[in-house]
Amino acid sequence: KRHLISAADLSRDDALLILDTADELARVSERSIKKLPTLRGRTVVNLFFEDSTRTRISFEAAAKRLSADVINFSAKGSSVSKGESLKDTALTLQAMGADAVVIRHGASGAPHRLATWVDGSVVNAGDGTHEHPTQALLDAYTMRSRLGALDGRRIAIVGDVLHSRVARSNVLLLHTLGAEVTLVAPPTLLPVTVRSWPCEVSYDLDAVLPKADAVMMLRVQKERMNDAYFPSAREYSRRYGLDRDRLARMSEEAIVMHPGPMNRGMEIAAEVADSPRSTIVEQVANGVTIRMAVLYLLLGGETQ
Ligand code: CP
Repeated sequence: KRHLISAADLSRDDALLILDTADELARVSERSIKKLPTLRGRTVVNLFFEDSTRTRISFEAAAKRLSADVINFSAKGSSVSKGESLKDTALTLQAMGADAVVIRHGASGAPHRLATWVDGSVVNAGDGTHEHPTQALLDAYTMRSRLGALDGRRIAIVGDVLHSRVARSNVLLLHTLGAEVTLVAPPTLLPVTVRSWPCEVSYDLDAVLPKADAVMMLRVQKERMNDAYFPSAREYSRRYGLDRDRLARMSEEAIVMHPGPMNRGMEIAAEVADSPRSTIVEQVANGVTIRMAVLYLLLGGETQ
């Protein structure tokens, strides 16, 4: 039984296999083969305890394109509101037959716990401030398709790193793939452990921008901000927002990324988000392909 819980668990070969499988699946889709029979008879459960637009829908689309049956569970409207625990919820879904459980949860470590309770493969779709490995995979896939191999590429990840599971998963995966990552944030929005992460750290966006091949802007997570000092939105945008002037100072081939959802006008100006340099919509499309690759490799049978 295999799981995808942390980007740290992926070797370089594992990561490249997922990216190459996604390439292959994208080629198949281009030949207008909308649905593959690979996971016929398998059941994928989407277990979402936190809100999601992109991740939930793209896992559903990915599973359906592989002909799996999909059960969507969202905590809102379920017996979780009557106090049912994660374990009892998981065992209930298990009893209905789940070959894979895709889980998003507000608690860091929830997917790890879940993996001890269910028989199927567990895929982490975002746990607290810990990790979001399929986001990192789709980001790496997007970078590789735009920039080529990631070895030696310089990637800046900018903003609210403190609350970002996307940042942690990206740092781990990009390091595995040979890229050089610089985190850029105000000191109050960096975790205390950041110096042990495999990346550089800077407080100065303008110094980092001209050297970057890709600039990934992070959402300011206002809903998790109660434990951190946050300057005014205006001050934040002035120092760490990506606007037209800053975009003009980036290298001509460099791309602008954002995992979404965005705070337009806060971490990224609307005209930058919508510019041809932005890969934001492409990232969403690639999310379906990457999640197909992950489900295919986890559930696709003995030979994979
Ligand atoms: N990027 C991302 O995880 O978006 P959602 O929260 O909409 O799934």
